[in-house]
Amino acid sequence: MNTASVDSLELIKQKIETREARIGIVGMGYVGLPLALLFSGERFKVTGFDVAADKVAKLNSGGSYIVRILPAEIQQAQKAGFRATADYSEIAAMDAVIICVPTPLNEHHEPDLSYVTGTVASLAPYIHQDQLIILESTTYPGTTEEIVAPMLEAGNPLGLKVARTLEQPGVHVAFSPEREDPGNDTVARHDIPKVVGGCGPAASELASALYGSIFRRVIKVSSPSVAEMTKLLENIYRCVNIALVNELKQLCMRMGIDIHEVIDAAKTKPFGFQAFYPGPGLGGHCIPIDPFYLSWKAKEFDFRTRFIELAGEINTAMPYFVLDQTTAALNDRSKSLKGSKILVLGLAYKRDIDDLRESPSLTIIELFREKGATVAYNDPYFPTVGHGRHYDLNMTCTPLDNLAQYDAVVIVTDHTTYDYKAIVAQAKLVVDTRNATKGIDAKNIVRC
Ligand SMILES: NC(=O)c1ccc[n+]([C@@H]2O[C@H](COP(=O)([O-])OP(=O)(O)OC[C@H]3O[C@@H](n4cnc5c(N)ncnc54)[C@H](O)[C@@H]3O)[C@@H](O)[C@H]2O)c1
Repeated sequence: MNTASVDSLELIKQKIETREARIGIVGMGYVGLPLALLFSGERFKVTGFDVAADKVAKLNSGGSYIVRILPAEIQQAQKAGFRATADYSEIAAMDAVIICVPTPLNEHHEPDLSYVTGTVASLAPYIHQDQLIILESTTYPGTTEEIVAPMLEAGNPLGLKVARTLEQPGVHVAFSPEREDPGNDTVARHDIPKVVGGCGPAASELASALYGSIFRRVIKVSSPSVAEMTKLLENIYRCVNIALVNELKQLCMRMGIDIHEVIDAAKTKPFGFQAFYPGPGLGGHCIPIDPFYLSWKAKEFDFRTRFIELAGEINTAMPYFVLDQTTAALNDRSKSLKGSKILVLGLAYKRDIDDLRESPSLTIIELFREKGATVAYNDPYFPTVGHGRHYDLNMTCTPLDNLAQYDAVVIVTDHTTYDYKAIVAQAKLVVDTRNATKGIDAKNIVRC
């Protein structure tokens, strides 16, 4: 065995233990920024890299652009050496670099890895021997081995190779999925076990040592592909189960059964059942997107992922179900949707968060508008909404007063700050897609 390689491995582990290791995190978004704060809280000196100049400036002035992260937390991290930059040449000074950039779908519903490849192309010229590079962005199995590692090897001027055995010197590359659940405070971040798969044994060992300094439990798997697939299994499991309850909800409505009462009863079973809840459709950066990374990759193996396709079909139809239910509820009151005034409550894709990516609200508002309704919205987290990749709304948040002016108030996101009793008392009609009005008995509520 090459003792020089083993010695340098021990040296990096020592730097991690003594907190001398410098950590670079690329992508200061919902995943990267909290991760940077976690490392900073454990006395690491962290540099945040982002191409968005406004985010870099905000962080360096001690501010925050994510509601649940307070400016005081950024300032505390600054005292521990945290700063942000858009200058990739600073990668050279890092011992470990963690990539947390977006992995969306393109307009053909296929993986868009341009953020990952753009990042890797930008950092490759500055990597150095024994540096640890970890991809955290959710992606299909094979990305780290087939795209990231070869790009790093081709793009660095030193001719560095990815270390695949303990004897081989080079740069260490690994994949470790992010498992954050925004808005869920029941599990502390450091209590969420961290899965790690390296391109070689040294990468696995170093990544485990690094994450082991901030997470209580690290699970080492045999390869980056296993780690990539683990994340997809977790998200596909959610996607499929949500589709199942969304379908059963529709059947239960026809049968006059309350699906929520059924789920509440079923979840008393102490084994073999986990509760999932129906809703107006999927949202967020993960569940509506990640499964399709796998179905795309599966085609390379002449394989159809039918569960994913069926779940996708059911879940993407849910906003149309809300449209139909609202139309029917108005019809029962001798009103047409065309010409009606509708208030949509909640833009965020789930309660109490400031993230509207892929939110079903956006589709629902567009569907109401297409049918000739005049639509207003309220969401305490979004004073305005403009346009994005899949929507063009350009609206301003309406205050929650004079609710009687609307023909229907449609609850799409069940923020806990809403006073649902007061809303039901004032509105002519409430269409509730989240069971937010549970326990309120009133004739003007339509639950769907
Ligand atoms: N948000 C979540 O709850 C969550 C949970 C688990 C996994 N993930 C995954 O984590 C990854 C990141 O998601 P996110 O929610 O943090 O995204 P985000 O959009 O909030 O943040 C990404 C950041 O990367 C920056 N960026 C884009 N290209 C860059 C480049 N070339 N160099 C430097 N910075 C660049 C953007 O400006 C942005 O600040 C995705 O793959 C996502 O699927 C997200």
